[in-house]
Amino acid sequence: MPKQTSYTAKHPDADGQIRYTASENAVWRDLVAQQQPNVDRYAAKPFRDGQRRLDLPQDRVPQCTEVSERLLDLTGWTVAPVPALIGFSKFFGMLAERTFPAASFIRSREDFDYIEEPDIFHEIYGHTPLLTDPRFARFSQKIGETGLTCDKADYAWLIRLYWFTIEFGLIKEGPEIKALGSGLASSPGELRHSVEEVAVERKPFDVIDILRTPYRIDINQPIYFVLDNVDQLLEAAKRDLRADIKRAQALGLFAPTYPEKKIA
Ligand SMILES: [Fe+2]
Repeated sequence: MPKQTSYTAKHPDADGQIRYTASENAVWRDLVAQQQPNVDRYAAKPFRDGQRRLDLPQDRVPQCTEVSERLLDLTGWTVAPVPALIGFSKFFGMLAERTFPAASFIRSREDFDYIEEPDIFHEIYGHTPLLTDPRFARFSQKIGETGLTCDKADYAWLIRLYWFTIEFGLIKEGPEIKALGSGLASSPGELRHSVEEVAVERKPFDVIDILRTPYRIDINQPIYFVLDNVDQLLEAAKRDLRADIKRAQALGLFAPTYPEKKIA
């Protein structure tokens, strides 16, 4: 998670509605227009099924209230606007209560193709389709429940499991590998990279391996983990993840396969 942002949160009015400007709605419209053909080609069926269930507006930024109405019926989740960046304990607490925290601002035109921090396009377009799947929804809640009972020193370990599944997970689909994670679905460049790039590692989904794998948030991932099916996430949600973290800590982190970030 980035430490700072130049964006400020947009706050809902008394009706829970956020007033987006015409130019902000146009950014959403153009992001969807650019990304949907990529999603149709590279994203996995559970993601595309979720899109169909939600039927998000294409020409304006959706309101958290309208997305919540649909999600509540399907899996009992809601989406709540939050400031651009929130702390881990609040983040885990909201997931445990089946509330997805959504940064409410939308990126500027200058950041159209890449933005490090999550914006409403990433949160709604990227995340909410998967939250229509009860298996994915349960796994997300389990991450939150585990986070609430972890030591703070364990947060960075737990968040790797979130990162390599919910954000950047891949999944087998017949003979193909498709993109499942929300960070991929909302990223024009990395969606294709994750599926087609030859020079990346695609490892089988394994909770302990994932917990031991470091990552950088500001580059295309050099390693992805591939699910056989979404049921594996439901199985993972039954595990004692705190015990898994202790085991991973005892085994130690894998050496990074990416270059260290240069501080200018
Ligand atoms: Fe995200």
